[in-house]
Amino acid sequence: ANGAHVPVLIIGTGYGGSVAALRLAQAGVDVNMIEMGMAWDTPGSDGKIFCTTTAPDQRSYWLRTKTKAPLNYFLGFPIDRNISRYTGILDAEEFSGITVYQGRGVGGGSLVNGGMAVTPKRENFGTVLPSVNPDEMYTTYYPRANAGLGVGTIDPAWFDTTDCYQFARVGRKHAQRSGFPFVFVPDVYDWNYMKQEAAGTATKSALAGEILYGNNYGKKSLQKTYIAQAKATGRVTISPLHRVTRVAPAAGGGYTVVIEQLNTTGDVTATKTVTSDRVFFAAGSVGTSKLLVKLKATGALPNLNGEIGKGWGDNGNVMCGRANHLWDPTGSLQSTIPCAGIDNWAAGGAFAEVAPLPTGIETFASFYLSITKNPNRAQFSWNAATSTVDLNWQTAWKQPSIDMAKTIFDKINSKEGTIYRTDLFGVYKIWGDHLTYHPLGGAVLNKATDNYGRLTAYPGLYVIDGSLIPGNTSVNPFVTITALAERNIEKIITTDL
Ligand code: FDA
Repeated sequence: ANGAHVPVLIIGTGYGGSVAALRLAQAGVDVNMIEMGMAWDTPGSDGKIFCTTTAPDQRSYWLRTKTKAPLNYFLGFPIDRNISRYTGILDAEEFSGITVYQGRGVGGGSLVNGGMAVTPKRENFGTVLPSVNPDEMYTTYYPRANAGLGVGTIDPAWFDTTDCYQFARVGRKHAQRSGFPFVFVPDVYDWNYMKQEAAGTATKSALAGEILYGNNYGKKSLQKTYIAQAKATGRVTISPLHRVTRVAPAAGGGYTVVIEQLNTTGDVTATKTVTSDRVFFAAGSVGTSKLLVKLKATGALPNLNGEIGKGWGDNGNVMCGRANHLWDPTGSLQSTIPCAGIDNWAAGGAFAEVAPLPTGIETFASFYLSITKNPNRAQFSWNAATSTVDLNWQTAWKQPSIDMAKTIFDKINSKEGTIYRTDLFGVYKIWGDHLTYHPLGGAVLNKATDNYGRLTAYPGLYVIDGSLIPGNTSVNPFVTITALAERNIEKIITTDL
């Protein structure tokens, strides 16, 4: 409530925020979480909380009047459609050189993501988080994160026979025929539930085109794991449709936090001010970076150091499709949950997920999201003229990612006698190089913060989300974000509280 004084306020309810809330509450601390998106706990008029990718409605996008699907063309025709402006679940946030997709709502990115829960190979960890001791991560914090998230792997025997992974078996065949290692990728989707979907004994979710705009069943989003546990302590309060706009030192100690309440068309209906002894920035790489850059530049937190806003990367994301021969159909029924990838990281700098194209019809297409070792890093900066935060990423900076992805797909195409699809991202455009799902960095660990996420110029302010990670995790990022948050909050609880 307006004027309240609280011990801990957490900005955002994604992975970092949910870990912090649970562990602080278990340590006996009362926690208030502020989330700009909706609660996503109430069904719409169709009886479902979330809409499907094939029939997106107002619930799909954050304050847009037209959908902005990542894969926005098919057979050369644009597939985006008009929707009414609403505080929907997926934000396609546009910067000058890149569109950054992010989840909006209680659970953050866990609401919209594919649930692929990948621990980086230990040999790559030194480049992922160079200042963190790998031993403690691989013996304690990665296992703790995997347990907390409910990570599991597909039953390989079921994979070999089920219709809904025919597309992935085609991916395996082509990878192996070209000599690439094919690996199963763990996921937080409930694999037993998916078997029941396939058998017709449970309501379909992954097998009904649900993913990008939320899964109604089956996926263990943070709402079902960390946040459920945090709520069960009785110490955690969550305020959805509330957006933090300012954090500044309070006269009597602690921090004054300004919060705007939103309605479902995005208008500000009230502005509240609370005081908190400690504030955790967990608004995601983009959300936290934007807030900190603005607060430093506008004089609310002028002593934040010069690393704020730097070291941002796109995790090397790039997408492409391949056209298969008629004897390699990928199936009209495709699970929306990817379960496997092609590992060419060591030799070619690319790890490619075999992704579904769940259109409901046979497309003869193989679709891939590659994570690559792209070395480019961008910076957020305050634009005083427009009062917004800019990101200086350029579209051309994806070229290294394309080159790395080609180490896999040029070889597969040549072996199979196939070609790239040119109709998925525009008219005659092969590469989906305009976007990322994996924003990382902007408040890098041991640079913008100390080695545990403390903003040392301001005791009691912490960063605890993907903005701590310097731009690339070599695999999908949320397990690393969760494990790092587990490590940092344990230290903070034992030494700062
Ligand atoms: P996260 O973004 O999760 O949470 C931040 C929260 O803060 C959001 O809920 C936001 O609304 C809120 N917020 C922001 N600003 C605020 C403000 N000023 N006031 C109040 N609240 C504010 N990763 C992976 O490992 N495997 C995968 O399969 C995928 N797939 C995938 C698909 C798609 C479509 C997307 C968009 C993303 C993925 N990801 C993924 C990425 C993964 O979801 C992402 O890395 C994490 O969600 C990031 O976690 P954080 O805790 O950093 O922030």
